[in-house]
Amino acid sequence: MTTKVFVAGATGFVGKALVAEACRQGAQVWAHVRPDSPQLQNWQGYFSGIGAEVSTAAWQPEAIAAELRRTAPQWVFCCIGTTAKRMGRDGKAANSYETVDYGLTKMLADAVGQVGGVERLVYLSSLGAGPSAAGAYLQWRHRAEQAVQACGVAWTIARPSFITGQRDVSRPAEHSASLVADGLLNALGFLGATTTRQRYRSTDDTTLARALWRLANDPGAAGKVVLSEDLH
Ligand SMILES: NC(=O)c1ccc[n+]([C@@H]2O[C@H](COP(=O)([O-])OP(=O)(O)OC[C@H]3O[C@@H](n4cnc5c(N)ncnc54)[C@H](OP(=O)(O)O)[C@@H]3O)[C@@H](O)[C@H]2O)c1
Repeated sequence: MTTKVFVAGATGFVGKALVAEACRQGAQVWAHVRPDSPQLQNWQGYFSGIGAEVSTAAWQPEAIAAELRRTAPQWVFCCIGTTAKRMGRDGKAANSYETVDYGLTKMLADAVGQVGGVERLVYLSSLGAGPSAAGAYLQWRHRAEQAVQACGVAWTIARPSFITGQRDVSRPAEHSASLVADGLLNALGFLGATTTRQRYRSTDDTTLARALWRLANDPGAAGKVVLSEDLH
């Protein structure tokens, strides 16, 4: 039977790689694009070109639940998140970690629990997420993880370190940080700290997408938080 999957955050760096991987695996894929995306037409062309269908359900609780009922996916992936730059761009709460990273993830997790039939919710979080983590980003990620864990269906949370690769939009600060971190970690690995190196070294979008796909398919990964070293 063909596996049906729904990817929220499909237009992002990892989401796009995940849609491509799911299509490559022969799944029936709904790539979610926000209906007000200025690039909606481009995304429709791109996703239909690689064999995915586009979902344009509004980010409203009833609309997201109705879309999950209509598409009836076995696996739902959440690759949603904002950035400090986006928040700063308009200074509006609409782009805050609370509204996007937590709010949209919780809305999706609640809908997954409400509609039934979903066998796995896979959430792309971040290394370091925790209640007393340094910074709002990791603290809201923790709240989002709690929403996923409370959804009422089997879940898996992935916590990668830096994600590298060829982005459509360049992020020089993130890229430089990952290069510095990987350089330091290589030195640590040379000195014998291989566990630390494995935990914090960067991964790329395609490798991470394949890991997320593998985790959704792995009964042993249900109810697990998977750290960076197991996402390579
Ligand atoms: N980059 C890293 O090094 C790193 C490391 C660890 C964890 N992570 C986490 O992994 C997640 C995915 O990373 P990524 O690099 O793929 O992110 P990305 O390229 O920035 O993609 C983010 C996704 O979230 C959507 N989104 C953002 N704001 C939205 C809003 N207000 N309403 C609706 N959708 C919104 C975007 O949709 P649009 O295209 O429509 O804007 C896009 O699909 C991120 O949330 C990040 O926190 C990243």
